[in-house]
Amino acid sequence: MNVTPDQRARELFEATYGYAPLHVESAPGRVNLIGEHTDYNGGFVLPMALPQRTAAALAINQSRQVRSVSEQLPRAVASALDAPSGLRITFQDYLRAACLALAEKGQAVPGVDIAISSDVPIGSGLSSSAALVVATLRALRSALGLGYTDLGLAKIAHRAEHSFVGVPVGVMDPMACSLAVPNSALLLNTRSLEFENVAFPPELELAVIDSGQRHEHASGEYRARRAECEEAAAALGVSLLCELGEDAMERVDVAALSPKLRARVLHVLSENGRVAAAVDALRRADGERLGRLLAASHASLRDDFQVSTPEIDALVETATAVVGCLGARITGGGFGGSIVLLTRKGKAADVAREALEKSALRLAHLEPRVVVPLSSAESQA
Ligand code: GLA
Repeated sequence: MNVTPDQRARELFEATYGYAPLHVESAPGRVNLIGEHTDYNGGFVLPMALPQRTAAALAINQSRQVRSVSEQLPRAVASALDAPSGLRITFQDYLRAACLALAEKGQAVPGVDIAISSDVPIGSGLSSSAALVVATLRALRSALGLGYTDLGLAKIAHRAEHSFVGVPVGVMDPMACSLAVPNSALLLNTRSLEFENVAFPPELELAVIDSGQRHEHASGEYRARRAECEEAAAALGVSLLCELGEDAMERVDVAALSPKLRARVLHVLSENGRVAAAVDALRRADGERLGRLLAASHASLRDDFQVSTPEIDALVETATAVVGCLGARITGGGFGGSIVLLTRKGKAADVAREALEKSALRLAHLEPRVVVPLSSAESQA
């Protein structure tokens, strides 16, 4: 039988350090239903928690060091809390970043022993890094008796990843990993950080397929997209593109922008509008409309924002053609990763399996797999 990440982290901790962890906490990965590349433009996003979680087993030590171990790197490594990052970002950098972001808030962390176990796929656009940071911060919150709310913790997690690891991500992922609840989507205003749970209708179901194409080269392109959005916003006289409102393409002087920047703005503003429409569709349990919105989001990410790949496009196209699929799109930062698709309740596993079978030849080198829904063996864990 499968063992939960919490149990595995606890066992790994004991086997590594020779004593029991005092605190074991976890956080889920996330899938973004819609609202892609809007979070760093002051727009709306609509992520959901995955059933897969990352667990952190932890105890405070007084060594000024982070001693860490994970299932992927089963030999414990010790590094000074304030050690500079190397050229490659490692999982230890995220753990140290969590401690440093707390220290910046005035909460000194004397040093920790920590063991990580995770079922969230890595490099698949499903927020494995935010799940890692939020799980670690939750364990530190318990260990140090801190009073942070989940919203407060999400902000610290964002600061950790953005400023201490140095990856220029938006606020969606830590907010989703910290605040999303099962069977609901988290409607988040990324400017005000106001959020609301929108019930996912019981008539509908989602599937998530990990293409197996890792988005390792994503950070350069991600930075480039961010820079393009900032350049367009400055040219249009706003600090964030979503301040413009959805009808801006008709109102503002987009002619002043290059065709490339115009396309980026078109994606961001139209995608922001699709989040509101998707919330309305969820509230009415209107699967057809929600499916069309997912399809429109994919087309916009592919053509205007240019963050898809031929392999992902093939997977989305194949999935969309399967009978019972109401719509599909790339999810996450892009340049590989996963797709999300919508069906009526009870159909998601079959539609996802058929989409995989039909794209097997094209994606043979990538080992794609269904991440959601969990197989019955996995869901017994
Ligand atoms: C990555 C980032 C998020 C967000 C998405 C795109 O997942 O971590 O902040 O920008 O890309 O929507």
